[in-house]
Amino acid sequence: MCGIVGYIGYKQAYPVVIKGLKRLEYRGYDSSGVALLNDNKLNVYKKKGRVSELEELMIGKDVSATVGIGHTRWATHGEPSDRNAHPHQSASGRLAMIHNGIIENYAPIKQELLKKGYEFKSETDTEVLLNFIEDIQINNQCSLEEALRIALKRITGAYCILLLDKEDPETIIAARKGSPLVIGIGKGEHFLASDASPFIEYTKEVVYVNDYELAIVKPEELVLKNLGNEKITPFVQELDMELAAIEKGGYDHFMLKEIFEQPSTIFDCLRGRLDAAAGTITMSGIEENIIQLVNAQRILIVACGTSWHAGLVAEYIIEELCRIPVEVEYASEFRYRNPIINPGDVIIAISQSGETADTLVALEKAKENGAFIFGVVNAVGSSIARISHAGAYTHAGPEIGVASTKAFTGQLAVLMMMALKIAKAKATISDERYLMLLSELASVPEKIELILSRSEEMSAIAEKYLDASDFLFLGRGYNFPVALEGALKLKEISYIHAEGYPAAEMKHGPIALVDSSLPVVFIATNDVYHEKIISNMQEIKARKGQIISIITDGDDVTPSLSDDYFSIPAIDEVIAPILSVVPLQLLSYYVGTMKGIDVDKPRNLAKSVTVE
Ligand code: F6R
Repeated sequence: MCGIVGYIGYKQAYPVVIKGLKRLEYRGYDSSGVALLNDNKLNVYKKKGRVSELEELMIGKDVSATVGIGHTRWATHGEPSDRNAHPHQSASGRLAMIHNGIIENYAPIKQELLKKGYEFKSETDTEVLLNFIEDIQINNQCSLEEALRIALKRITGAYCILLLDKEDPETIIAARKGSPLVIGIGKGEHFLASDASPFIEYTKEVVYVNDYELAIVKPEELVLKNLGNEKITPFVQELDMELAAIEKGGYDHFMLKEIFEQPSTIFDCLRGRLDAAAGTITMSGIEENIIQLVNAQRILIVACGTSWHAGLVAEYIIEELCRIPVEVEYASEFRYRNPIINPGDVIIAISQSGETADTLVALEKAKENGAFIFGVVNAVGSSIARISHAGAYTHAGPEIGVASTKAFTGQLAVLMMMALKIAKAKATISDERYLMLLSELASVPEKIELILSRSEEMSAIAEKYLDASDFLFLGRGYNFPVALEGALKLKEISYIHAEGYPAAEMKHGPIALVDSSLPVVFIATNDVYHEKIISNMQEIKARKGQIISIITDGDDVTPSLSDDYFSIPAIDEVIAPILSVVPLQLLSYYVGTMKGIDVDKPRNLAKSVTVE
């Protein structure tokens, strides 16, 4: 949610910043802008729309500077427009700032400044904060750094800011609370960004800035301080990311690339952990905390969106295999409703980005109440990974398409291994079933490959239903969360209204929607509910609904009830969601692209939701 990038060093800043903005565009794309500082000349350019529109604006402009910052926005305060785009400049024109986050108490501060005669060019909270900083500096006759510290102590909300001062062209000042900031360290140069993608070809040495820290960044020097003005030694880490991981690699869209990467991302997730032949799962985060996990009185799963759907699948699996009660919570509700957390509770946090504001704050609160937090996170070094007591990475690599695909299947693979490992330690699973599920899980990459090799079949199905205005997705048991995920994917990237429901629950309301114009997608793979879901299909058929079913290879009953079907390789029902979701990802991809939608950047969405 908003991408920020900065450069200070000996290179020309503009090419680094603009390329960085393109890589961060998945975080927000309603407007963008850059500020370039050359000696004491500060030039700010900004434009509503995509980064490509900013690039057009920049043709013929003076872009020479070795210091620059850039921003790609997902609007919070104020509509997407040129004037609300970042960077903002202070009243004197001396300072320029970009911001990712929300200043919650901006209104009283704005009133204070209006009374003093300040005028605002935009509707943003960012311009308020910037003028507040300048006002403090003028009144206290202090350094910009000190003024920033004072301002940050007065504000509430979330921020990652980069600040330029045209009277100090050798410095970028940065600060963060609740929104990510990573600094790349080069020789005689520094890079700043919301994630490391803008600078991975220049350096692999990074420092993740923590909440309530300030960074004073010069070409040759990086100083980190806390809000009490004490220096902090930067913790330099080696980045494990390659350029190819953030490029489209010949695919039309990142989403398609990421769907097709799933055989290898699942393989990477299982590699070094699952050894089906030896009957072992190695996960240090679990092994080091096995007593806590085995003795858990209750597991609370906290997540949002697609990650929440992965949590629902985990609820079914953990309860069945480990016999531990599980509750799955929307982080946004959990954080505000004073939940009961008992000493024996374990919290599993699931997040692709590791930066989702609601999940992060929910975990901070739970941690304050003594909860043990296990993170299932994709983005290495992210905030959720860092505040968790233990965890397991999904190793899906950078996910850039806004709609989550490979991260979801990676989450499922990790959660399945976790459940199997805990069940084994608790002796709530027989050896035979344990070994069988291990080998089923090991077969997933190959089986996804088979599904993807028939993606054209799903493209043909998608073409038939392009004009539908609503879709219903139905599943039972392990496939119920998959129905929710299928519906979410479709609405996100095709803008078609879709609802996911437990198939049997359909009779209690949604069946009223069924007529000949309603496509109903059944996730009807072979499991204990199969006969029951066939009855549900009959009920839809009797009302002339159109049925698209996801079935298991060899099922010769369901096709006769379906207008269209896509079959997937047979697999145990516990593991089935990792496979059954893949055709649904393809369905939404094809419907979205056939409708001409930019599926990597669908309207109103952003990849990393760092505001509540
Ligand atoms: C849907 C999607 C979102 C995210 C949600 C949580 O395709 O991507 O629903 O799943 O915003 O994000 P993370 O997993 O980064 O916490």
